[in-house]
Amino acid sequence: MTTAGSTTDRADDRSRVEERPASAAPLLELRGITKRFGAVQALTDVDLVVPAGQVTALVGDNGAGKSVLIKCIAGIHHPDGGQIYWEGRPVHLRTPRDAAALGIETVYQDLALCDNLDIVQNMFLGREKTRYTLLDEENMELSARETLSSLSVTTVRSIRQPVASLSGGQRQAVAIARAVLWNSKLVIMDEPTAALGVAQTRMVLDLVRRLAQRGLGVIIISHNMNDVFEVADRIAILHLGHLVATGPISEFDRETVVDYMAFGRSERRKRNSEPTVAEQ
Ligand SMILES: Nc1ncnc2c1ncn2[C@@H]1O[C@H](COP(=O)(O)OP(=O)(O)O)[C@@H](O)[C@H]1O
Ligand SMILES: [Mg+2]
Repeated sequence: MTTAGSTTDRADDRSRVEERPASAAPLLELRGITKRFGAVQALTDVDLVVPAGQVTALVGDNGAGKSVLIKCIAGIHHPDGGQIYWEGRPVHLRTPRDAAALGIETVYQDLALCDNLDIVQNMFLGREKTRYTLLDEENMELSARETLSSLSVTTVRSIRQPVASLSGGQRQAVAIARAVLWNSKLVIMDEPTAALGVAQTRMVLDLVRRLAQRGLGVIIISHNMNDVFEVADRIAILHLGHLVATGPISEFDRETVVDYMAFGRSERRKRNSEPTVAEQ
């Protein structure tokens, strides 16, 4: 199925995505993803393209299926139907470890940081570097420092301070830095600015933009339309488990997004151009 290295141009044959050269395929593509919990149909036939180097905002009302969808991408939930493609190849994500091995990292709402541990310990939690069976503190400190500074996170006093002493924005930055430390290609964030004030929200949104500038794909769940319109290149809107609209953010305005979130449709959407396959 995989054809890495193939240079054949198959732009004329879009139906055979499995055989597109890896470089032309989107970073992540979901096709027909369906997920049920007993009688609850959480996701129905979701198609979504997530390109590298762009921020995709995932929005929807409470219960729309946002968390279930990202948990399918993170290897926590297993879809009942459909297929996930990673760089053009069909993949089965059985565990979060499978997702991490591909370069998929998730920053959850509660962050899962340990308050009593310092920044370095948190960034390497469960994946500590060792040298001759001892923890390689020097190496971990260096990587943690480099990662934070490459993301321009400069406000922390010391990387050896416990995360309990950090502000909400700094904690979020540490969680994001931890996610990018592992050569990740896709970072998924669930409401990263929900608990933050204005200045800290700004810092985190800047950080999100920098991830995309580095070439990473980013999926960000947010309820905040200001954040969405400020940071996103693309938007994907869920309504009752259906993906009702997706495309470049420039084709949407706030009212359109709210229409889709509330009713699953909108009469107002503007189109920049005819939709291309990459936009669908
Ligand atoms: N583990 C679960 N068991 C049963 N139902 C679930 C489970 N997780 C989510 N659901 C249901 O799936 C639907 C989508 O939930 P969710 O993805 O959490 O929504 P949100 O968009 O608010 O994140 C909801 O109806 C929710 O009750
Ligand atoms: Mg949720």
